[in-house]
Amino acid sequence: MNIRPAKVGDLLGMQACNLQNLPENYTLRYYLYHAMTWPSLSYVAEDHQGRIVGYILAKMEEERDEKQPIHGHVTSISVLRSYRRLGLAKKLMVQSQEAMANIYRAQFVSLHVRKSNRAALGLYKDTLGFTVKSIEKGYYADGEDAYAMELSLQ
Ligand code: ACO
Repeated sequence: MNIRPAKVGDLLGMQACNLQNLPENYTLRYYLYHAMTWPSLSYVAEDHQGRIVGYILAKMEEERDEKQPIHGHVTSISVLRSYRRLGLAKKLMVQSQEAMANIYRAQFVSLHVRKSNRAALGLYKDTLGFTVKSIEKGYYADGEDAYAMELSLQ
């Protein structure tokens, strides 16, 4: 398994992976926007045949509130079912977090996650050390609440 920065040629594979794994989906144009604007923040995991089996799509926060320090944001991460529990998501997160801190001087990273997403909460809280900053009521299209989580990169 190889983890490397995402290239424009990977975007369709990332989108296909996202469609298989999550109900939150994005236009190809939105993937392209991430890849062109923050080329060092999104990564893919590929198998020995070069098939995309996992990805992280990440960005720097654009709505700059002067009171808030510079920070990164994980738009989406997922790993195909048969490749889970191998440490791929952890590696994808750490690569992106390091780039946020080293290249953009991000002071923390934020994300949203469904309250019911046990696997992702295990990854964020237990493995990476994220904490819940707030609950966003009805954040998702089906009405489920989100935890807004953050991790300091300092
Ligand atoms: N139950 C409990 N804890 C889990 C689980 C699980 N099913 N899966 C992972 N974890 C935790 C564990 O602490 C694990 O460490 P361990 O294996 O040593 O116990 C740790 O996370 C690291 O696991 P990884 O192997 O790195 O995680 P994986 O590659 O399996 O991917 C992911 C985790 C991305 C959540 C995967 O289950 C997935 O793709 N789920 C569907 C899509 C999804 O929910 N994405 C996140 C949405 S939120 C967002 O995108 C910002």
